[in-house]
Amino acid sequence: MDLHARRADSFGAQAHAYAEHRPDYPVAAIRWALEPLGKPERLEVLDLAAGTGKLTAGLVAEGHHVTAVEPNEQMLTELVRRVHDVRALPGHAEHIPVRDQSVDAVFVGTAFHWFDQEKAMPEIARVLRPGGVLTAMWILPDPDVEWLGELERVSTGSVESQKQDPTGVMTHPAFGAVEWKTFPHVQRRESPEELVATVNTHSRMLVVDDEERSAINEKMLAFLRSRPETSNGPFDVPLRAEVFRVVRLSD
Ligand SMILES: C[S@@+](CC[C@H](N)C(=O)[O-])C[C@H]1O[C@@H](n2cnc3c(N)ncnc32)[C@H](O)[C@@H]1O
Repeated sequence: MDLHARRADSFGAQAHAYAEHRPDYPVAAIRWALEPLGKPERLEVLDLAAGTGKLTAGLVAEGHHVTAVEPNEQMLTELVRRVHDVRALPGHAEHIPVRDQSVDAVFVGTAFHWFDQEKAMPEIARVLRPGGVLTAMWILPDPDVEWLGELERVSTGSVESQKQDPTGVMTHPAFGAVEWKTFPHVQRRESPEELVATVNTHSRMLVVDDEERSAINEKMLAFLRSRPETSNGPFDVPLRAEVFRVVRLSD
């Protein structure tokens, strides 16, 4: 298996930690994504690559009827344990186990970069009703916060962070122009150890060997314990939701 495939498949080994330590999604981002559908009441929404349900929970809380699709068994098990009132199905973005034109919106949270987009885009177009929305969102560190940039540098090992430019990859004849907006967000962490636990749920940390992971963790802890922003008790990690949306055109 190549590195990309190993990373895409790495999350399940730490599914419980993922559910405990990854941030959720801002409700404003969910609402903006659905704006092209007018006044959304109870929409049929697909959360594709749903993981442990971080985004799914927000969609359910907004009152939508949600189907969560996720290929990794441990992630899906965690989702079912944590999010109720959801239809949870095993499946991939390249072969979605959902009927043609059966959903109003497809959400992809911090996962679009793992898809084989040549196959995933026609599949997403197939399941969406005309006028429906595809939205890809990522929760990322706020790039304007100096200590977070420093933490990224301190935690860089032999495997890089990965994210493609979605304005290019979401361009497809079945969809209109890509729109983009960012939303401020935060994640509360009780201690430096908790923030290190969050970083350890990223695929670049999951695929390295124990020795490298321990060395990076020691560096991160030493850094966070030395910084006034993070050394004393609970702190908010400044984040940003980057949200992209495209509307499904009629055939
Ligand atoms: C970083 S996690 C994001 C999970 C969740 N959406 C969230 O926001 O927390 C990436 C997820 O993509 C899933 N994934 C990887 N490749 C996939 C594919 N080809 N089709 C669907 N899901 C995939 C992984 O199993 C993992 O659960």
